[in-house]
Amino acid sequence: MAAVTRVLGLPRLHLRVTASTNERARALAVGGAPHGTLVTAAEQTAGRGRQGRTWVGPPGRALLLSLVLRDPTPLVPLAAGVAVAEIASGAIKWPNDVLVGGRKVAGILVEGRPQEGWAVLGIGLNVAVTPADLPAELRERAGGLGLAPADLEPTLDRLLGALESWLAHDAATVLDAVRARDALEGRTVRWAGGAGRAVGIDDAGRLLVGTSSGTIALDAGEVHLADPAS
Ligand code: BTN
Repeated sequence: MAAVTRVLGLPRLHLRVTASTNERARALAVGGAPHGTLVTAAEQTAGRGRQGRTWVGPPGRALLLSLVLRDPTPLVPLAAGVAVAEIASGAIKWPNDVLVGGRKVAGILVEGRPQEGWAVLGIGLNVAVTPADLPAELRERAGGLGLAPADLEPTLDRLLGALESWLAHDAATVLDAVRARDALEGRTVRWAGGAGRAVGIDDAGRLLVGTSSGTIALDAGEVHLADPAS
């Protein structure tokens, strides 16, 4: 078999502590860093989550990483979710939270400037995090992979391989993979505008929800599902 040349992860900047790897990667992207540039940190002091939330992770127990992607497709958030779910053997809570045993073990935040042709793909993966490591308000909902701190680097290597593969797949393949790992199908979902039963993912990657007035499609950029989905 031919050797695979890895693009994601080179060059790599590893920081003992930083405010946010996404912030550092953004600055590198603006400065012209190449596709695949990786920023990792053992600890973040101001980790960013989706919808303006913060992301907390105990030092040295989670993968905290951001990748600079050049010419990203709109599918990056979903493809990244599939890659993380694959290496975590997890399910996907649309659009890209990864759950293991019903607990969130990873979060994904894609930020960028499409008009300038770049995005930053940020991933927090709780490799060696246990509920006891987390603030009380997260203990019921968040979890980890049940691995050890020594597993962080091997897990990063597997994750970069999975990302490289899934970011290169076509939309139909990615969407089928999301559907195959859909944690919400058949569940009641709630958002600011209403509630309904999740019935699948459409070909644009939107969540399909059956409501009293018919099936509607929710866009990840516009909708914030209530947490947890029940
Ligand atoms: C979410 O809200 O689920 C997304 C969380 C994304 C967290 C990761 S940790 C590494 C990277 N740097 C950040 O500041 N955020 C992302």
